[in-house]
Amino acid sequence: MRTRLKGIITAVKKEGLFRVLKELIRFRIYLPARRLYGLLLDRYYRIDTEEIAALDSLGVPLTAGERCESTPIGEMLRVLKLLEIGPADVFLDLGCGKGRAMILAGSKPFKKIVGVDISDQLIKIAERNLQIMKPRLACKNYELVAANALDYEIPAEVTHLYLFNPFPYPILDQVLRSARRSIKEKQRKVTFIYYNPKYAREAERDHRLVKIRSVEFPHWSLYLSKCNIYQLTA
Ligand SMILES: C[S@@+](CC[C@H](N)C(=O)[O-])C[C@H]1O[C@@H](n2cnc3c(N)ncnc32)[C@H](O)[C@@H]1O
Repeated sequence: MRTRLKGIITAVKKEGLFRVLKELIRFRIYLPARRLYGLLLDRYYRIDTEEIAALDSLGVPLTAGERCESTPIGEMLRVLKLLEIGPADVFLDLGCGKGRAMILAGSKPFKKIVGVDISDQLIKIAERNLQIMKPRLACKNYELVAANALDYEIPAEVTHLYLFNPFPYPILDQVLRSARRSIKEKQRKVTFIYYNPKYAREAERDHRLVKIRSVEFPHWSLYLSKCNIYQLTA
């Protein structure tokens, strides 16, 4: 308790009271409350999407990041509302983790939802989650693939590519190349939805991305999260 207090005083001296207060509210009140909401929903539906998985405990290589966190529900629902979705559309989540984004996309009338993840264990959890949620989904046709995104050729049926910042730019670059190859193979409109778009600048520089929207989520002004929606062309 004493050391914690000392830590807070040092932080206040260094960062200023306002900033420290903001961080305390964010990490001690706001985020735990959001997590609790997610956990309660998970408990209600008997699924497992909220608990953050440490990737090293799942035998995933370090390039895959440190942890698997699911897309926040409210944000994803807001983004989904902005998309044009038709009965022939196919949603792909590359780095699907426990499948939450797939489940939320499945509440829309997609023809199919596909999830790919490098971790076999996460794919198993996603499979269980989707089996449980399937009766409630508008789209009951789903496919899960355990694979490295680098080895995965994006199928020509995919019309909506979703990424929750799953990998560093060299991998994202290859994924966008694969998506563009698939568009060359079969001309169609492909929407690229990039949540927490850490490498947006590099992707916009190197690929034919037409930004349709950039959606910001201000979280009580404590922090800002973001989702970019692009149209991808060959
Ligand atoms: C932030 S989580 C995304 C969870 C999910 N998309 C969602 O929104 O609920 C990122 C996921 O990307 C996966 N991942 C990281 N690198 C990958 C790669 N090279 N190929 C496939 N999956 C990868 C991780 O295993 C992790 O589950």
